[in-house]
Amino acid sequence: MKKFLIIANWKLNGNFNFIDKNINLIKEKINNSLYFCNLSIAPPYVYLNYINNLLKKTSISLTAQNVDIHIKGSFTGEISIKMLKDVGVKYVIIGHSERRLFHNENNNFVSKKFFLIKKYGLIPILCLGETEEQKKNNQAEKIVIKQINDIIENNNIDILNKIIIAYEPVWAIGSGKNANIDEIQKIVLFIKNYLISLNTKIVENIYFIYGGSVNNSNIDIFFKKNIINGFLIGKASLEAEKFISLIKKTKKYLVN
Ligand code: 13P
Repeated sequence: MKKFLIIANWKLNGNFNFIDKNINLIKEKINNSLYFCNLSIAPPYVYLNYINNLLKKTSISLTAQNVDIHIKGSFTGEISIKMLKDVGVKYVIIGHSERRLFHNENNNFVSKKFFLIKKYGLIPILCLGETEEQKKNNQAEKIVIKQINDIIENNNIDILNKIIIAYEPVWAIGSGKNANIDEIQKIVLFIKNYLISLNTKIVENIYFIYGGSVNNSNIDIFFKKNIINGFLIGKASLEAEKFISLIKKTKKYLVN
């Protein structure tokens, strides 16, 4: 069985005080009982190295929120995959709707990042999902398949081996309006069946996680069906006590 994965996407939040408080609390309260899941923290770039040091001797890993499509050179303001590897990053989030929306990143651009992440041995967390409008027009399936197809077409199907696909409906992100388990199941199964039609084995090595307004009050609904292998959590990961309680609630469902 795949080990459950919980990723805290801090987005553009945090400072040294916040980090010390949050990481210390997590280490103190749950590090020793984290056998049931893999926990990873995705802070803003500038804190990756600092947090990497704090996380030494723990099982908690580090995730980057983004990466550039270049390895080195005159690209002011960018960070390369080699640099992320240098500071101990394990997973890299790409295709997040906030980058698609605010930084005009398209599928082609995301596929270049995907290729580099795999080439350098890190694990991509490929975010996909439909907007509210696309959902209303029954286009969700079409949109997520296009987001995947552009990765496959620019590379090939084997590149999807050992990756994470995060279904994050755009309308659910930061809105307090999570997708329900039937909606999640419909999309995840659709993607799985599509991938199986291309390669019967590939889905066995893909993690499917969900993101979009996951919090302490709705956490139970995601366990009503055995469909996802983890969460990508934004807002609810920003208050350590609440985040710890969310992880403890998750444990209840995973450990019998
Ligand atoms: P929220 O949990 O704040 O909705 O954010 C989800 C997300 O975008 C994780 O990447």
